[in-house]
Amino acid sequence: MDLQNRQKLHIAMFPWLAYGHIMPFFQVAMFLAEKGHHVSYISTPKNIDRLPQIPTNLSSRLSYIQLPLPQLDGLPEGAESTAELPIHKVPYLKKAHDLLQLPLTNFLQDSRVNWIIHDFISHWLPPVAAQLGVNSVFFSIYSAATLCFTGPPSDVIAGRRQKPEDFTVVPEWIDFQSNLAFKPYETLINQDGMDDSVSDYLRAAFVLQDCRVVILRSCAEFEPDALRLLGKMLQKPVLPVGLLAPSLQDSAAGEHWPVLKDWLDSKENNSVVYAAFGTEMTLSQELLHELAYGLEKSGLPFIWIIKNRPLVEGESGLDHLLPPGFQDRVSGTGLVWTDWAPQLRILAHPSIGGFLTHSGWSSVIEALGLGRPLILLPGSSDTGLVARLMHSRRLGLEVERNEQDGSFTRDSVADCIRRVVVDQEGEPLRANARAVRDIFGSTHLSYKHLDEFTRFIENYTASTKSL
Ligand SMILES: *[C@@H]1O[C@H](CO)[C@@H](O)[C@H](O)[C@H]1NC(C)=O
Ligand SMILES: *[C@@H]1O[C@H](CO)[C@@H](O)[C@H](O)[C@H]1NC(C)=O
Ligand SMILES: *[C@@H]1O[C@H](CO)[C@@H](O)[C@H](O)[C@H]1NC(C)=O
Repeated sequence: MDLQNRQKLHIAMFPWLAYGHIMPFFQVAMFLAEKGHHVSYISTPKNIDRLPQIPTNLSSRLSYIQLPLPQLDGLPEGAESTAELPIHKVPYLKKAHDLLQLPLTNFLQDSRVNWIIHDFISHWLPPVAAQLGVNSVFFSIYSAATLCFTGPPSDVIAGRRQKPEDFTVVPEWIDFQSNLAFKPYETLINQDGMDDSVSDYLRAAFVLQDCRVVILRSCAEFEPDALRLLGKMLQKPVLPVGLLAPSLQDSAAGEHWPVLKDWLDSKENNSVVYAAFGTEMTLSQELLHELAYGLEKSGLPFIWIIKNRPLVEGESGLDHLLPPGFQDRVSGTGLVWTDWAPQLRILAHPSIGGFLTHSGWSSVIEALGLGRPLILLPGSSDTGLVARLMHSRRLGLEVERNEQDGSFTRDSVADCIRRVVVDQEGEPLRANARAVRDIFGSTHLSYKHLDEFTRFIENYTASTKSL
């Protein structure tokens, strides 16, 4: 079928209110619009404002639809995404998001939508869509391994795992060699972010059970076993849409890039540690200090991104965050950066030798797309599972921590950094990270998978129409 004869679809996109979800949804939206479909990208006003401008040649096909976030007691005023909230406030964002059900239903009803691509949070959406004759696609921005860990929907809904300990063992349904399980301290952090009335597992289980199609940010080239298991476990189409690595050419450099580049240019190839923890990680002041001392003790040059948003809850200002005299001692070898940083550009610089990361799937994809080995220090959500996966695939090492409270020492940080970046024993890790670059960094591969998904929904719509 050429484009002319192909039916143009109206596809709505509805991501969870977190940056790591909003951007992959946007990439898929752009792709579908490029293919000639009409796409309505739905989110709250502040999140829409942060999205890139729609290219003029797509402006007739891609529209932003703003649905104001309903106010809710307990949700700080003006907050519309997880990045603006400490983790214990995130449950309120989930509840406020649930209140979008009515305006979203109205939109679907009035707009002749054929498909809606949505997130795991909106567990109420697939039945609503089905009633309106709209096909639902659950887009999991997580790895296939993470989705396997969630488990068969009927088991989750029946409440087979309840206690925190249930999440610290490899689930029995995982039928391949795996270390997928949370650490005790991770289950406790995750509990803080969940809505008591409907846990994240339950949300995901309802969505997995009721949607028509599952797509996910993965590919068989990297996770063949997990994808095969998902197909078997879910008994519905499961289509990987590729790793969706962002393109270096399209990534913003920002006004400070020349300063950062000069600094990086002055360092030897593969010698600098790039440390960044996303927008959502919170550490105690004590651990933040251990981290700082660990970086210092590694003896390697580093760039450490500390966002304006305090890493330590309730504290802000570098004086509180960093140990006394730290900046003076490391000046020249260590750069503490509090502004926005062009992560992709930094990771692409030849001086970067390793990435100390909170192990968010997006960050990991960016780093491996550029062949950088990982020093893994996970936080909340699925990051523990991503760290286990990367450690077991020998693409990085996890910093050793106390399993109960998650604490770590400066020595374990320094040791892990040196093993990944410079020690002889880390050479296989570095070679592995370089080797997966062809999978993680390939936009061609993502396009191929996205194209298969696009054909699938085109064909699905056509074949159900003719029934
Ligand atoms: C829109 O323009 C970009 C370059 O600016 C081009 O790569 C793309 O193919 C164009 N898309 C369409 C649908 O014309
Ligand atoms: C550093 O890496 C760059 C890019 O790979 C390369 O062009 C350059 O020759 C390298 N420099 C040294 C001193 O090896
Ligand atoms: C299109 O759908 C039909 C009927 O469901 C199926 O037999 C055929 O293989 C599909 N083609 C593609 C390209 O997916």
